[in-house]
Amino acid sequence: MAEKAKESAYAPYSGFKVGAAVLTADGKIFTGCNIENSSYGATVCAERVAIFKAVSEGYREFSKIAVTAMPCGICRQVMAEFCDKDFEIIVDNKIYKLGDILPEAFILPKEE
Ligand code: THU
Repeated sequence: MAEKAKESAYAPYSGFKVGAAVLTADGKIFTGCNIENSSYGATVCAERVAIFKAVSEGYREFSKIAVTAMPCGICRQVMAEFCDKDFEIIVDNKIYKLGDILPEAFILPKEE
């Protein structure tokens, strides 16, 4: 599904298309693709599109994500917001754990 989602990528500036598919804890899949912008900083990665689509539909618990490229630092941080360190990231048939690719992630302390 990540490969299929990649077909929708809008990447006229880099030419680098990415697709992602995230699995929720209760078995639903949301897909995403990268969406670039002429103001480059407004570009959104495929992983974040998939996760934000899920969160916007009320899903906040995830077990794994398949991506067609290795996730960037910002996407790893977004994963850390919703997923624990055992969350799996599948890239090219290799499985990574979030805790291994973003150790010591920043998380805002809870207010007393
Ligand atoms: N990209 C993603 O979609 N996911 C990542 O984690 C890495 C980078 C996109 C952003 C941009 O559209 C293109 O790949 C080149 O950086």
